[in-house]
Amino acid sequence: MKGIVFTEFLELVEDKFGLEVVDKIINASELESEGVYTSVGTYKFSEMLQLLQHLSAHTDISIDNLLLVYAEHFFSVLKSSYPGLIATYKDPIEMISSIENHIHVEVRKIYPDAELPTFEVIEKTENTLVMIYKSSRAMHHFGLGLMNKTFEHFNSTAVIDLEKIKEDGTEVKFIIHKN
Ligand code: HEM
Repeated sequence: MKGIVFTEFLELVEDKFGLEVVDKIINASELESEGVYTSVGTYKFSEMLQLLQHLSAHTDISIDNLLLVYAEHFFSVLKSSYPGLIATYKDPIEMISSIENHIHVEVRKIYPDAELPTFEVIEKTENTLVMIYKSSRAMHHFGLGLMNKTFEHFNSTAVIDLEKIKEDGTEVKFIIHKN
């Protein structure tokens, strides 16, 4: 997992819960990196999972909800880091349906070792999109948060339903209806 995902995460934790909580979740985890991250480095996903698990235990907020809130913050990071990529699009459905064959393709050119999910488009009309998310990391709520913010970015709203295909969340169907 890319360092920027860790550095932005810890910054958000510090903002919302304070530096003591950052220290606490780092100390409670067994981290090869020892909790020292640079935005261009690459670290094990298991480190993020431990940080999330300890934050979830400390705050009583589920990992899914933590990932959702984190993704909403991460969208603004993506917007300022990759303005050109997002500017290609005029419509949220167009943008979200292009993650697999455009956006994440470009991400892989920048970070060849990025660990990205796959999104398969099953159905697409002007106002609806059905996609299957697959990833061993089960970060579907991170995807949901990015989708929410994508609609907001285009001054639009949507109803987004998730249906787990696999109980462990490694395969999830997203059903998106633009309002
Ligand atoms: C300009 C737009 C975008 C950029 C630059 C971008 C970039 C990235 C980067 C750098 C990562 C981390 C990879 C790693 O740590 O190895 C990531 C992960 C991810 N991205 Fe994107 N992304 C964009 C848009 C989106 C959107 C709109 C979605 C919405 C569905 C999305 C879904 C995800 C998910 C779910 C992950 C977590 C990894 C996983 O589930 O396996 N991305 N993306």
